[in-house]
Parts: sequence; C-alpha cells; structure tokens
Amino acid sequence: MYEKIGIIGAMEDEVRELFALMEDKKIEDVGRWKVYAGKLSGKDCVIVRSGIGKVNMAACTQMLVDKYAVDFLINTGVAGSLDAQINIGDIVISTDCLQHDMDAVAFGYALGVIPQMDCSVFVADEKMAELADKVCREVNPEIGIWHGRVLSGDVFVADKARKDHLVSRFDGKCTEMEGAAMAQVAYLNNIPFLVLRAISDKADGSANMDYSQFEKQAIVHNVRLLDKMADKL
Ligand code: ADE
Repeated sequence: MYEKIGIIGAMEDEVRELFALMEDKKIEDVGRWKVYAGKLSGKDCVIVRSGIGKVNMAACTQMLVDKYAVDFLINTGVAGSLDAQINIGDIVISTDCLQHDMDAVAFGYALGVIPQMDCSVFVADEKMAELADKVCREVNPEIGIWHGRVLSGDVFVADKARKDHLVSRFDGKCTEMEGAAMAQVAYLNNIPFLVLRAISDKADGSANMDYSQFEKQAIVHNVRLLDKMADKL
C-alpha cells in the first residue's frame, strides 16, 4: 500500500533501537539530521529525530518528503495529558492535530486558525489509526490507548492555568510541540500521517514518575508498536 514510511521519533534511544531492528540499512547525514534508512519488518522506512518544536519538525518533514519520497508519515514521542482519565505511560493515537499557539485573533480568526488556509485542523489517517490501535492492544496490552486531538505549540505546558486554557479552548487529548507541524506539512504535500504519543506528564507541573524510567518504558512500547505496524503494512 505505502512504498516508504517516514518515522519521525523524539528520543535518541528509540531511533537507535529501531535502527538495530532494521535490515539493508544505512545512516546518512542530511543537513544537521541523521537519517536512518532501511527495512523495518521488511518495509522501507526512514527514521529521523527532528529536534524539538514546530520549525524543526516542519523542516524535517519536508526534507523526508523531498529527499526520501516518503508516502506516509508517523510521528512518535511524548506528550502532556489534557484528560484526567489518561494515565502516564498510556498512548494517544491522533484523530487530528492543530496548533494551539496559532494566534491571529487580532484579525478576527479563532485561536488555532491559520489565516488564509482552508484547513487548520489536520485529520490523521483513519485506517492507520485503526491499525495502530489493533497492534498496540496486541503488543502492549498493559497500557491504555486513547484516540483524540493532539494540540501542538512551541511551549512546554507545565502550569495549571495554561493547561486549563487549552482544555477550555480546544478539545484536545494531549499537548506536545511537533505533531501538528508534521501534520500541516503532510497536508501541504497530500501525504497521510499519524501521530502516536506516550503520555509523560499531566501538563500542569505536578509531580511525575521518574522520567528516565518512563522514557525506557515508552521506548519499549513505541518500538514494539512501530515494528509490528511495519510488519502489517
Ligand atoms: N511533551 C511532553 N509533555 C509536554 C508538555 N506538558 N507540554 C508540551 N510538550 C510536552
């Protein structure tokens, strides 16, 4: 169905572990990115860390489209929860993404609306979301799986007032700093996408579990999920 999957990860160890599972593989330096290309479970994939924030993500996504001709885009990483039911360690599968810090309110646009574009809420691929759900239940039965809107902005949300603002303005399940940028670039290139985010915190500055412990678990879950998804594509 898809010829080449672009996977944009967030964590170095995640990328390294996925690369370890790949065959026919090579590493290429492109600009300041290290691109890991090869076959994951027999599927052509390129894996890269974009760097933090929307600009890094947008540039990285376009690079994957232009240089590697990817025809599906997946972004993995961590996110802060915007829903009290979602536990740390659970995975949110995107239904759609928007940029919560896009603010042209002074020109009469609603918060989050990108002026002069026909779309500001970027809809994720439903079939791939279904596949991710099915595979995740199979390989990671110990964690909760949620489907919903991913809010992105160039801000790490760590106080209750800001979180409450996001919750009241947007119907989001989680917040992070890149997903909607990849989604917008995917949209501009007519390429389908999916965002998969492991919940690392409650986006309110509250006490957290040991982050390095969390990261290890999130990487195990993501690697299992991506490897098995590649197998089914
Ligand atoms: N990534 C993980 N947690 C986050 C948060 N609370 N805000 C933004 N990005 C995040």
